[in-house]
Amino acid sequence: MHISALLAFLAPIVANAALPGIDVSSWQGNVDWAGVASRGNKFAYVKATEGGTYKNPYFAQQYNGAYSAGLIRGAYHFAQPASSSGATQANFFVANGGGWSSDGKTLPGALDIEYNPSGATCYGLSQSAMVSWISDFSKTYLSKTGRYPVIYTTTDWWTTCTGNNASFAANHPLWVARYASAVGTLPAGWSYHSIWQNSDQGNPGDSNIWNGDATGLSKFAKGG
Ligand SMILES: *[C@@H]1O[C@H](CO)[C@@H](O)[C@H](O)[C@H]1NC(C)=O
Repeated sequence: MHISALLAFLAPIVANAALPGIDVSSWQGNVDWAGVASRGNKFAYVKATEGGTYKNPYFAQQYNGAYSAGLIRGAYHFAQPASSSGATQANFFVANGGGWSSDGKTLPGALDIEYNPSGATCYGLSQSAMVSWISDFSKTYLSKTGRYPVIYTTTDWWTTCTGNNASFAANHPLWVARYASAVGTLPAGWSYHSIWQNSDQGNPGDSNIWNGDATGLSKFAKGG
């Protein structure tokens, strides 16, 4: 077989080895979801809320649009741990699109916990205070929805700001960000990631890869 024919033959096999998805926020505005689906994306996370007051004004178009285009979609909350308690922010998230349903089209809500975009990296919280804040968010989210939240973070931030706490790995799916050709070292405790945000060059938004096949993604959405 000629090399170019071989590559053409292999390309779809390689592409199907992991499922692509995107994540979006108000930066992307109204999204062309039919286009997103036509490019092979199977899932999307949509920013719902941040802190205790911010709501993504494009949430409905993005979240419902992803669903209508046949994607499995979920909502995420950008944590602002200095501004109010984890419970307060989990309740705010759930009340504004962050809930979960077992319809097989809805991913568990994600807690985006990462570098402070406008101040001290760990928001001025000690490692133990940060761990308590995340636990408070998680317990509240679980009691409201029946699912543990997905944790979105980077290994570096988690190490710096939680002391690389290994306890959350037991029941929180990991969505890890690393813009590189390999996922790299995971935060402590996790032996695998569920989703890898591998670049900020999504079309549109950021680019992500589900660590598994379509059956696994569907099971993850349904829960249990
Ligand atoms: C890790 O977090 C758990 C709560 O999820 C806490 O009980 C435990 O003390 C923490 N471990 C360390 C070493 O901080």
